[in-house]
Amino acid sequence: MSTGDEPFRDALDAAAGHAREWLASQQTRRVGPRATAGELEAVFGGPLPRAGMPAEEVIDYLAAEAEPGLMAMPSGRFFGWVIGGTLPAALAADWLVSAWDQSSMLRAATPATAALEAAAGHWFLELLGLPETADVGFVTGATMANFAGLSAARWRVLKKAGWDVNTGGLAGAPALRCIVGQERHDSIDLALRYLGLGSPIVVPSDRQGRMDPAELDCALDRAALDRSGLDRTGPDRALVPASDGTAVSAAPPIVCLQAGNVHSGAFDPFLQAITVAKAHGAWVHVDGAFGLWAAAVPELAALTAGLHLADSWATDAHKTLNVPYDCGIVAVRDTEALEAAMSVDPSYIIRDAGAAADPFQTVPELSRRARGVPVWAALKSLGRDGVAAQVRNLASRASQLAEQLSALDGVEILNDVVYTQVSLAFGDDATTRAVTARIIEDGLVWMSGSRWQGRDILRLSVSNWTTDDADVEAAVAAVRKALAAVRG
Ligand SMILES: Cc1ncc(COP(=O)(O)O)c(C=O)c1O
Repeated sequence: MSTGDEPFRDALDAAAGHAREWLASQQTRRVGPRATAGELEAVFGGPLPRAGMPAEEVIDYLAAEAEPGLMAMPSGRFFGWVIGGTLPAALAADWLVSAWDQSSMLRAATPATAALEAAAGHWFLELLGLPETADVGFVTGATMANFAGLSAARWRVLKKAGWDVNTGGLAGAPALRCIVGQERHDSIDLALRYLGLGSPIVVPSDRQGRMDPAELDCALDRAALDRSGLDRTGPDRALVPASDGTAVSAAPPIVCLQAGNVHSGAFDPFLQAITVAKAHGAWVHVDGAFGLWAAAVPELAALTAGLHLADSWATDAHKTLNVPYDCGIVAVRDTEALEAAMSVDPSYIIRDAGAAADPFQTVPELSRRARGVPVWAALKSLGRDGVAAQVRNLASRASQLAEQLSALDGVEILNDVVYTQVSLAFGDDATTRAVTARIIEDGLVWMSGSRWQGRDILRLSVSNWTTDDADVEAAVAAVRKALAAVRG
């Protein structure tokens, strides 16, 4: 039975109305939620009712009852964690993606979403100066983008050592060492854990959290010595035949670099670090969850110099680009490696031999919403200049905040503000924690507490395209007020 749009109309109209109300409230509402998850479980939960409810009533009920538990993350006064707002074109495109309901796996089955994601992928590579022939995959976030990029890395470096991880697994595989900076994001460790690669070798970072290339060089030398030691002392391990019968040797290392430290916003020195890593034959992966976008801004070019020399890159579109949750992007230069790591060949998926890669071949999922479409819409609506202006604005708002906050008595700015992050403290840890709690309780703005380099800190991330002078003023006023209250 074909129903037409009639059964959907009232519910969709209601949802559009509630969505507009929610967005309109962002300028003035309290940023933090007023209800706890526990309180709302009591509202939404209980035994599943026997009888249903008309769709429009479900939507009205949902919007009304959820409202007290929503955080105003799309607000220009939200500076918590690293969370972007939403661009109008991206949000509306995301609604269409749901309405179209395409399982975006195959070019032949869903040509429109496949073509839109392919275009978004090409624009992304072009915008950030990454290799134009790299494979791109749209995933849920930077965690999965790191996982996908490092899966490709694992496949390739083991292949170079004569081992096929797809058939041979990891038991008995050649030794494989991953090298990371001291201040990498935890999602790198998580990805390595998912991949069975265990704990990485950690290279010391400087005060801003940047990896030191000289220390990287030493770590790579030590890892090479370890590997040759394994070859000598562990012949069983080094000489296990690969699944195709050839002898295996130790695998080249994998080095993970970072574009954008969550606390300082700092970038690893890519040119030097990648030169060092490549001299050791390493695969270089870059976690640029929010920092990769700096490459779109000519004035920030120094931060990302050499970035394009890496092998794989992970980022979020739901952070700096401001598409709605969720969307991460992985790009991999070695297309064979990504497709070998991610692809499967189910009997029910019939592909033309030699056809371009299908969307499911570059991501961990098979069935998947077309989450690259809001990226296409965001890039189409902004254009190259618009993306640059958006990212430039985030960085200059962060500098503006740091400058005004540093003028307050008792505020210590802890990082060099080079990008979108500002970390500060108010003397001792107890005072910093008390001021942070007070700011959140007041609810005019939202900022996160964190711990960095042995200190409790307050951290601001400017990640929303709507943050303007008034929001910066509100943020400074909120800090001033909380500090005064704590000091009594
Ligand atoms: C540098 C970095 N990498 C990875 C992540 C994880 O991103 P996601 O939560 O989108 O998976 C974050 C999140 O803030 C991050 O800042």
